Amino acid sequence: MTSTTTVETPRDGTRDDGPLLLVDRVAIGYQRQGRHVPAVADATFEVWPGEKIMLLGPSGSGKSTILKAIGGFLRPTAGRIVVRGRDTPEPGPDRAFVFQEFDQLFPWRTVLGNVSYPLRVIGADRARARRQAVEFLELMGLKDVLDSYPHQLSGGMKQRVAIARALAVDPLMLLMDEPFGALDAQTRGRLQRELVQIVARTRVTLLFVTHSIDEAVLLGDRVVVLGGRPSQVKEIVDVSGLDGPDAPGFADARHRLRALLAEDGEDLHGAVFE
Ligand SMILES: Nc1ncnc2c1ncn2[C@@H]1O[C@H](COP(=O)(O)OP(=O)(O)OP(=O)(O)O)[C@@H](O)[C@H]1O
Ligand SMILES: [Mg+2]
Repeated sequence: MTSTTTVETPRDGTRDDGPLLLVDRVAIGYQRQGRHVPAVADATFEVWPGEKIMLLGPSGSGKSTILKAIGGFLRPTAGRIVVRGRDTPEPGPDRAFVFQEFDQLFPWRTVLGNVSYPLRVIGADRARARRQAVEFLELMGLKDVLDSYPHQLSGGMKQRVAIARALAVDPLMLLMDEPFGALDAQTRGRLQRELVQIVARTRVTLLFVTHSIDEAVLLGDRVVVLGGRPSQVKEIVDVSGLDGPDAPGFADARHRLRALLAEDGEDLHGAVFE
């Protein structure tokens, strides 16, 4: 039995509909000085509705590259990316992004303006966009700063706004690229807990890139481990139900992930992997 059978209430369709996302023998590269340089050699994994999938790997292992390809911003050089049965998806609001950088918000718009703008773009009228934006900002604990501008917020608050903005468009998938990587440990822990709650509440499917073993084990159902250069999927580790260091199996999962990353010669005593 695989971990995927534990997903109970998918938000979009049933398990019989097939995976929400299929990454099938994907290779991706970049043009550098007129030359094709491969970044990802072979990535295969699937994501089922309601799952929380973590992409874990050393710096340069193609985590962001894969996420951008899933977002439709990069085309694979081989293999297929299939979103809800649709091959080679264009970018769209069904896959919402949250990045690491605090400057992903529009600096000239208020918090409310930042969250309601994409709703207006996808066709909501002013009143509905406002209502929906306020609802998600309240959910993220931001109802007191609706009229503030990004420069008036802390890093953690900016990331909360970015999460509210991503969720307000009611995406099928939330694609997060190290969204808490630039936060202090305390704020990071708090936002991790908030994310777990809001994902459970909205039942959005989560695809989350991280450098951190602990973050992957705490937040994920399964961890897709990338390694090698160009990279491939080394293993997919089931971490469902391991929601704290005291959970049985937490230490084993952590050791397994450490061992996989160590195969790549990662310095596990460095600041990056905790
Ligand atoms: N725009 C680009 N042009 C050329 N090469 C790129 C580009 N973006 C990424 N690469 C290369 O592709 C490889 C994978 O990069 P990517 O950013 O996907 O890694 P990552 O796993 O997200 O790393 P990090 O953990 O540091 O964010 C790296 O070798 C990188 O130098
Ligand atoms: Mg990256």
